[in-house]
Amino acid sequence: MRADLEVLSSADALAHAAATRVVTAAAAAIESHGQFVVALSGGSTPSGTYERLATEPLRSQVMWSRVHILWGDERCVPPDQSQSNYRMAREALLDRVPLPAEHVHPIHGEQEPAAAAALYERTVRTLLRTPVGPPRTIPGARIDLIILGLGDDGHTASLFPEGVAARERTRWVVAEYAAAVSMWRVTLTPVVINAAAEVLFLVSGRAKAPMVRRVIEGHRLPTEVPAQLIAPSAGRMRWFLDAAAAAALASRRP
Ligand code: 6PG
Repeated sequence: MRADLEVLSSADALAHAAATRVVTAAAAAIESHGQFVVALSGGSTPSGTYERLATEPLRSQVMWSRVHILWGDERCVPPDQSQSNYRMAREALLDRVPLPAEHVHPIHGEQEPAAAAALYERTVRTLLRTPVGPPRTIPGARIDLIILGLGDDGHTASLFPEGVAARERTRWVVAEYAAAVSMWRVTLTPVVINAAAEVLFLVSGRAKAPMVRRVIEGHRLPTEVPAQLIAPSAGRMRWFLDAAAAAALASRRP
């Protein structure tokens, strides 16, 4: 697994670099196998990236009719609620680009969590043409790009420290009550995340600097630091950090 680290001068520069990376990855996937399957992250950090993707000049550089939208995780709330990752992406991106409605595959956070997770596993398996068995790492049968964030506690998607989802070894999607945020979540697991062609971590802000250092330069303790579980088996991993989030990295010290 190859991991690249890029440090951008500001949150704005990070959003622009990330949106440009999505455009490039989309063009390559559509060229190679006719479609681009991207899993969006929730939280606050990626919204600037989504807004840039919905704005010229980047907006018209994507063949939206060939794009499929998944989510890495969702909060178990109705889609019109402010905590909904679907709602955030809809407002920042989906409502502003010519995406076919049937290419948008939300996690149904309004449903009973375990049922929503089982339904979403079927949805992802159907899209990736792998109805049964482990995920495949061949183009067209795997997620082309997964955007992930990082919590101060080392969680990513909704893979929380000491959590059930972080320990999952077969299911692609699980539901979990995340005590850290006092709510049910539905999340992709490392099983399917690590089969992706590319994982793009977006991390911004000084508050994240200690955990960024721990994940990238610290001891490997994936049950305590679930972001360390992310290691694409036949793909690339990129860390896009702003200078504040990268501030504690020893590799950045003179
Ligand atoms: C979510 C996310 C979660 C997020 C981190 C970072 O649903 O909340 O998927 O994993 O990426 O908590 O969140 P911020 O970007 O808001 O710091």
